[in-house]
Amino acid sequence: MKATKNKNSDVKNNLTLAEKIDALRNEKNAVILAHYYQIPEIQDLADFVGDSLGLAQKAAETDADIIVFAGVHFMAETAKILNPDKKVLLPDLEAGCSLADSCPAGDFAKFKEKYPDHIVISYINCTAAIKTMSDVICTSGNAVKIVESFPKDQKIIFAPDKNLGGYINSVTGRNMVLWDGTCEVHDILSTQAVINLKVLNPDAKMIAHPECKAPVLNMADFVGSTTAMLKFTKKDDAKKYIVATETGILHQMRKESPEKEFLIVPTDETCSCNDCPYMKLNTMEKLFACMENESPEITLPEDVIEKARVPIERMLDISRKAGLI
Ligand code: 13P
Ligand code: SF4
Repeated sequence: MKATKNKNSDVKNNLTLAEKIDALRNEKNAVILAHYYQIPEIQDLADFVGDSLGLAQKAAETDADIIVFAGVHFMAETAKILNPDKKVLLPDLEAGCSLADSCPAGDFAKFKEKYPDHIVISYINCTAAIKTMSDVICTSGNAVKIVESFPKDQKIIFAPDKNLGGYINSVTGRNMVLWDGTCEVHDILSTQAVINLKVLNPDAKMIAHPECKAPVLNMADFVGSTTAMLKFTKKDDAKKYIVATETGILHQMRKESPEKEFLIVPTDETCSCNDCPYMKLNTMEKLFACMENESPEITLPEDVIEKARVPIERMLDISRKAGLI
């Protein structure tokens, strides 16, 4: 008996971290959802890798007992809101988001009071408290369609990303009131670096995430969410792309189109440090530990879950009707 026990633990000890995570996933009926900004090892073992919209959809549909969110806090919170009875784990509770942090609930409530005849459309990159004050949520993958689902004369507050909001205003001809928040990763991508890359690579197309500032977006051949950019590079016939977003997406782009070249836009001429510091807090070791200990777990008060669920469900409904999911 003892010998068998030792043998079993020997086998367990010899497994790689990826194999141990896989064993825990099966044993606990867990699903691992990962954002494209996660490190390649995590992306490669996840059950699903996607952008914020794809991840919200998967979270809404899963029948797993435990959702392990390899992403940031607002994403895991969204999964919890959609699955109040399931356990939702986040490998590192410190994995926040500068956009979500840029919009504190108290300040936003006061801001909202100034526009009593406006509805609120909030980017999913916000806290559950902001979601409770919103009429509908959007992601970068459905933002234009969500805004266009309202009549042209509907007055709208858009929070918290002013770059994404400004981009939607320019595409739809709306004049939404914008909360003054930004993503610290996308907002600092360098306009000069884009120009330099374009001069050196005249054969390259440029693609950008709408969290980038307007001068960067104005130089892009294509603007879209991480999934939209990935699909674009797969279908498009160029051989080289200048990519203005977080570095994590390059892993899937290179996997999907190994024959193509991808040049990331750096934050300035000396540094190409556009890794999201929050997304990159998740490691294989933390993923394993959180699955083994079933902690850190995301918890939310019931009334917050109830209120925040309404605008998220509305977003999923509009996205289904628009054929986006
Ligand atoms: P998407 O996943 O919608 O492309 O947004 C990127 C992002 O910054 C997530 O935090
Ligand atoms: Fe937030 Fe920007 Fe990081 Fe996305 S990339 S999680 S928006 S800080």
